[in-house]
Amino acid sequence: MLKAVILIGGPQKGTRFRPLSFEVPKPLFPVAGVPMLQHHIEACAKVPNMKEILLIGFYQPNEELTRFLLNAQQEFKISIRYLQEYAALGTGGGIYHFRDQIVSGGPEAFFVLNADVCSAFPLKEMLSFQKEHGEPNSFVILGTTANRKQSMNYGCIVENEQTNEVLHYVEKPSTFVSDIINCGIYLFNPDIFQHIGTVFQKNQQDMLLDYFSCREEPTNGWHRAEAIRLEQDIFTALAGQGKLYVYKTLSFWSQIKSAGSAIYASRLYLNQYHTTHPERLASNMEGGPKISGNVYIHPTANIDPTAMLGPNVSIGTGVTIGAGVRVRESIILHGANLQDHCCVLNSIVGWDSTIGKWARVEGTPSDPNPNDPYAKIDSETLFRDGKLTPSITILGCNVTIPSEVIILNSIVLPHKDLNRSFKNQIIL
Ligand code: GTP
Repeated sequence: MLKAVILIGGPQKGTRFRPLSFEVPKPLFPVAGVPMLQHHIEACAKVPNMKEILLIGFYQPNEELTRFLLNAQQEFKISIRYLQEYAALGTGGGIYHFRDQIVSGGPEAFFVLNADVCSAFPLKEMLSFQKEHGEPNSFVILGTTANRKQSMNYGCIVENEQTNEVLHYVEKPSTFVSDIINCGIYLFNPDIFQHIGTVFQKNQQDMLLDYFSCREEPTNGWHRAEAIRLEQDIFTALAGQGKLYVYKTLSFWSQIKSAGSAIYASRLYLNQYHTTHPERLASNMEGGPKISGNVYIHPTANIDPTAMLGPNVSIGTGVTIGAGVRVRESIILHGANLQDHCCVLNSIVGWDSTIGKWARVEGTPSDPNPNDPYAKIDSETLFRDGKLTPSITILGCNVTIPSEVIILNSIVLPHKDLNRSFKNQIIL
């Protein structure tokens, strides 16, 4: 039997996702109409013999997370549990801390998935690859290719081209190492805990040495020893040992770090719906709005038939869209009200926000060429060389934009009532 672990991080993570992560934990932010995590859960639940999905993070369990877990358990008919770390233990420390829960029931293997990735999740392919290529107890990293410059923002993998063994692993190198990058999706077996355990013991010894040589007060000693990063602490050491392999996928993949990259991820998932969930894609119907390209509309949204939506638009629950409204490349969150003839391009409109008549809310696309396969890679950057370069426009929750103004390339924090146009600004 198999299990899956999804690393969901915690409130101090995902800072690049502000102001949207003020309202909802980042893993629950809707991408292509469903919470980001649901795409992972759905993919895991489809793998034969998958018995349990564990979410590991350091969020306080709140009503929203609990409700999401209950709904997902019912929908996917699989046990899903949340395990809360007492502190941020890193991508390896969390799974090590909860190793007893992971190995209980005797899974022969388990997946580990970063929550902040958008992917076709080729999990079955990883299993077949492991059987065909890897040594019996080997571990598999999902990899994809990036261009030279982009690769340096990721974990870079040098492989043996014949065997696909990982020979060398460097996290975010400062010079070019390889164009194969780590997708943050792994297939492990319980042997991984021996390797993490070795690092843990070494950390503990280092800590004691520090203590006895009075180098530093180990105030949070246990925490320090248990904080382990899979990428830097484990993969780097395992590379070249005949244990770690890379399965390279040609299917779509991108990270969801910033709010802007959520629009890009939405585009990828909406496109995937043609094969996985055609029922989630809106179509042109008598008496309905004009749809262009891939659009998701929640059934509770109220949309005027003269509105035009798409491509790459997701409309959340209870959204109201008036006559003549134009929306393109945007995510409209629940309860938002887009009044007659307003125009929303390359933007995220926060929960319960209102855009007045004839107003224009616009961002600049982060990836100028949507057909560029490398545009997939987190191209939305808010601060470049220390300078503010807002690209998409983000309205936080409950923002009011008056009629006939233009909000361009700006970020508006929650609960703001604007009274004029803004360009290239963060409105606090
Ligand atoms: P950055 O570019 O600095 O964000 O690094 P990264 O892309 O390597 O991401 P990072 O390692 O910070 O996170 C990868 C995934 O693991 C994300 O889904 C995080 O939410 C999750 N994660 C990171 N740190 C922790 C942790 O301490 N505990 C848990 N449970 N999850 C974590």
